[in-house]
Amino acid sequence: MSTQQLLAPILSFLKCETPDEWIEEARKPENLSIILRDHLACELKAGQTAMHFLRKYAIDKESGKILADWFKPYEAYLYRKEGDLQSLASQDALSKSAFTTKNADYGQDFIDKMVLLIKEELHHFYQVLEIMEGRYIAFENTTAGRYAKDMMKHVTTHEPDTLIDKLICGAYIEARSCERFAKLAPHLDDDLNKFYISLLRSEARHYQDYLALAEQVAGKDINDRIAYFGKVEADLILTPDSDFKFHSGKPS
Ligand SMILES: [Fe+2]
Ligand SMILES: [Fe+2]
Repeated sequence: MSTQQLLAPILSFLKCETPDEWIEEARKPENLSIILRDHLACELKAGQTAMHFLRKYAIDKESGKILADWFKPYEAYLYRKEGDLQSLASQDALSKSAFTTKNADYGQDFIDKMVLLIKEELHHFYQVLEIMEGRYIAFENTTAGRYAKDMMKHVTTHEPDTLIDKLICGAYIEARSCERFAKLAPHLDDDLNKFYISLLRSEARHYQDYLALAEQVAGKDINDRIAYFGKVEADLILTPDSDFKFHSGKPS
């Protein structure tokens, strides 16, 4: 599948494109370290979000512990600068068969999709870190931007709508990441260009998986809710934002 074919459904799902002003800011060589540091943190956050869904809704306590342990070296690196690339590379593979369902409503398909997503996000984390080390960009933990936080403020507080809303937000975050990687890639050097294009396939699937899970959990038409979050998301992308990050709004 070509990049264009991968992107077509994403561009029609999102209510706006990344503004050129954001691309202008992101392509400045002096901002590369901000982009990569924030990207690294976003990959872990994406994995943790899926872990949260699994632990809260789908898997039993024992499985939850296995999963939480699996994240520990990545969290230790990001939050406490403990460990290095090598210690992350020697992590055992995560197997979806290690998990026991606690709720048949969120069955095997939910677990399979989320476990695959976690594996991929943590692999991306490793890849970003490898790129940063290769470029002598020291890791510094940065504060999160407004994007995901502000979207979450619109999530309903009663189940199952809370989960449905959060899955829709997940779909938007993944879709936006995909659109931004594709739009920014041609403005970066060859290695980064290739890396960002290589991420499109998995991020495009993550967006589709989140959307499919939201529809499955809802068991009814959720187009109004999708449209609602589409508007919230587009506002965050198009309105001025002084905190330049991977998912920030129009630079101001
Ligand atoms: Fe990722
Ligand atoms: Fe993703």
